[in-house]
Amino acid sequence: MRIAYRTRDIKEYWAARWDNIPADAPMKNVSIYPLKYAEMTVRDKTGKILEAGCGGGRILRYYHDRDYEIIGIDYINVAINKLKEIDPTLQAEVGDITNLRFTDQSFKYVLAFGLYHNLEHGLDKAIRETHRVLAKDGSLCASFRADNIQTRLTDWLTARKTKNSNREDTTQVFHKMNLTRSEYENLFTKCGFIIDFIGPVQNMPILYKFRLFRSSSHKKFNENKARTEGYRLSWLGQLVQNFLMRFFPNQFCNIYVLIAHKV
Ligand SMILES: C[S@@+](CC[C@H](N)C(=O)[O-])C[C@H]1O[C@@H](n2cnc3c(N)ncnc32)[C@H](O)[C@@H]1O
Repeated sequence: MRIAYRTRDIKEYWAARWDNIPADAPMKNVSIYPLKYAEMTVRDKTGKILEAGCGGGRILRYYHDRDYEIIGIDYINVAINKLKEIDPTLQAEVGDITNLRFTDQSFKYVLAFGLYHNLEHGLDKAIRETHRVLAKDGSLCASFRADNIQTRLTDWLTARKTKNSNREDTTQVFHKMNLTRSEYENLFTKCGFIIDFIGPVQNMPILYKFRLFRSSSHKKFNENKARTEGYRLSWLGQLVQNFLMRFFPNQFCNIYVLIAHKV
């Protein structure tokens, strides 16, 4: 386990990030993260879905628009307010994954992309809480930041940028937790989940940080666009990324995706 540090508290970081951009459009591309993995998990329309840490709402809106019964929660007010503004029919509310208001076994599916690694304290509690609200035979799909070369490089680049920024206060505080594949597996099995799938996934490739390697339509960074279309690379960037993911997937993914169920 490795902790990544930054100058801003994690909750402030998310509040500023969601404040800076409009709510997401619903995702369209089912062959990329995270929708690809949500689709591997949600198999029918009859079960209720919880999206924990729904953020900009790209997944929440995708399922809502297709008449699935889905509730999104996030601990950032501004994210929820923007979602309610853009579509008042959405079920979205402020909530914390470590203490949910829902009764036991309320949901057939829980989707939690990029959520648990934000927790400095209460990680086990959050996973037990997820387990509690999931129905028997229900499924969870979650992603977690990997502890590998890619995330170490990302953290090093960010630290270097902060150092060169001439900021007065460069005090480092908790940002995110990074886990190896086996640490990630253990976390969920000890809380009672049976793992069906776990795999290295590229969400934002490190090459995307460099303009040279971005696709022509992504040269000017637009976060909403990247979040709904995926972080698209140029052919050269994709060639290099495919090579890295083919031969060193555990070192050049940035997240692990897990699908697990409750017995
Ligand atoms: C990486 S974003 C993912 C957003 C969305 N799931 C997606 O994939 O587009 C993680 C989200 O988790 C939320 N979050 C972090 N800690 C949380 C907590 N303890 N309870 C609820 N939401 C939390 C953040 O505010 C952020 O919106």
